[in-house]
Amino acid sequence: MTSADKLFARAVDVMPGGNTRSTLFVEPHPPYAVAGAGAFVVDSAGHRTIDCNNNYTALIHGHADPEILAAASDAAAKGTAFGLPTSYEVDMAELLSARTGMQKWRFCNSGTEAVMMLIRGARAHTGRDLVVRFDGSYHGTYDGVVSPGASGVPAGVADASIVLPQDDVEALDAAMQALGDRVAVVLLDLMPNRAGLRPVSSEFASAARRLTHEHGALLAIDEVITFRLGGGGLHQTYEITPDLVSLGKVIGGGFPVGAVGGRADVLDAFSPLGDGPVAWGGTFSANPVTMAAGLTAIRRYDESDIAVLNAKGDGLRGRLVDAGLAVNGRGSLLRLVVEDAKTTWWRLYEAGVLAGTNGLLALSTVMTDEDVDLIANRVISALDGA
Ligand SMILES: Cc1ncc(COP(=O)(O)O)c(C=O)c1O
Repeated sequence: MTSADKLFARAVDVMPGGNTRSTLFVEPHPPYAVAGAGAFVVDSAGHRTIDCNNNYTALIHGHADPEILAAASDAAAKGTAFGLPTSYEVDMAELLSARTGMQKWRFCNSGTEAVMMLIRGARAHTGRDLVVRFDGSYHGTYDGVVSPGASGVPAGVADASIVLPQDDVEALDAAMQALGDRVAVVLLDLMPNRAGLRPVSSEFASAARRLTHEHGALLAIDEVITFRLGGGGLHQTYEITPDLVSLGKVIGGGFPVGAVGGRADVLDAFSPLGDGPVAWGGTFSANPVTMAAGLTAIRRYDESDIAVLNAKGDGLRGRLVDAGLAVNGRGSLLRLVVEDAKTTWWRLYEAGVLAGTNGLLALSTVMTDEDVDLIANRVISALDGA
C-alpha cells in the first residue's frame, strides 16, 4: 500500500468517498499533495509534477510566493480575523474598482458564495425572481445555479431559473420577449470551463447586454475563472459593461475568497445605511489574511504581466494544436478536449503534469519559457496516440 492508499483508506472512514471536493476526485483516488514551490508540486510518494492546475486556476503566482507569504504572515501576526472591518478590505475594494470600473464591492469566502450574494442582490434590487443562465456553465454549488433536477435541490428553487443554450442569441431573445419582465439577472460566463472553455461570441455578449437593458433586467458576468485573462476581467475585452460581476480564485492570493462588484445603486441593496433590504454576514468575509495576500497577488499582476502570461498560454496552445491535440481556451487558460478524462488525467500526472480533472490547464507567472516547453513536451508525449 502506498502512502496515498493509506491516507485514502483513513479518509473513506471519515469522509464520504474519502472526499471533500467533488471537482478534484479521480478514481481510484487522487494523490495527496505534500508541498508546492513555485510551479511544482510534490505528492506523498515524492512524485513531482509541474502544476498546471494551480488550484483550479486560483494560484496566479504558483506556490509559496515569498512576497505573498510575507504579506499574509504580516497580516496574520496582527490578528487573523476581527469582529471589526480592517483597512485591507478598503484597499482591495479600491483596487478592484480601479481595475474593473465596478463602483461598489462586497467580499466573501468563495466563488459559490459570491454568486449566491450576487443573485440575492439582483433579486432585491429588481424585485424580480428569475435568473437566466446557460447550459453547462458552472457557477458553484449553490442550489439556484446547479442543474435543474439535481439531487437535493427543491423544485421551487430550480423553477426560479431558466437554462438556455450557450451562445444562442435567438434563444435568449425569445426567452426575454416571453419572460423578460420577470427576469432579475442574466448570469453569463464569457468562457465557461465546464461547457468546454470556448469563449462566447461577441454578438452573444452584446445581445445579452442589449436585451437585459431592454427588459429592465441586470447583466452579471461571472469572472471567477476569467478575471485572470485581463486587467479588469474578460468582459473588458468584449467591451461590455455589466451591472454586476462575481470574482474569486486569483484575488485571494491563494487564500479562500469571493467578491461581488457592481453598480452602486445595485450593490446598495446590501447597504446598512439608508434602506438596503439585504442583511448579509460572513464571519470570515474580508478577513485580513486573505485581503493582504490578494492585494499583493493582484498588484503584481498588471496589464503587462497579464499580456506575458496570456502569450505563454497562446504559445502553448499553438504547440499542442500543432501536435494534433484539440485544445480550447484563451490566454493562460487551456482545456484539452479528450474522450476519457480519467485516463488522460492519470497519463498527464504520471508524465509529470498536474491538470484539472476535466483537462483544464492554467498557467502561472512563475513558469519560465523552459517550464512551458516542459509542459508542451510532457503533454504531447503523454497523450501521443491517446
Ligand atoms: C465561473 C465560476 N463561478 C463560480 C465558481 C465557484 O467558485 P468556488 O469554487 O470558489 O466556490 C467557479 C469555480 O470553479 C467557477 O468556475
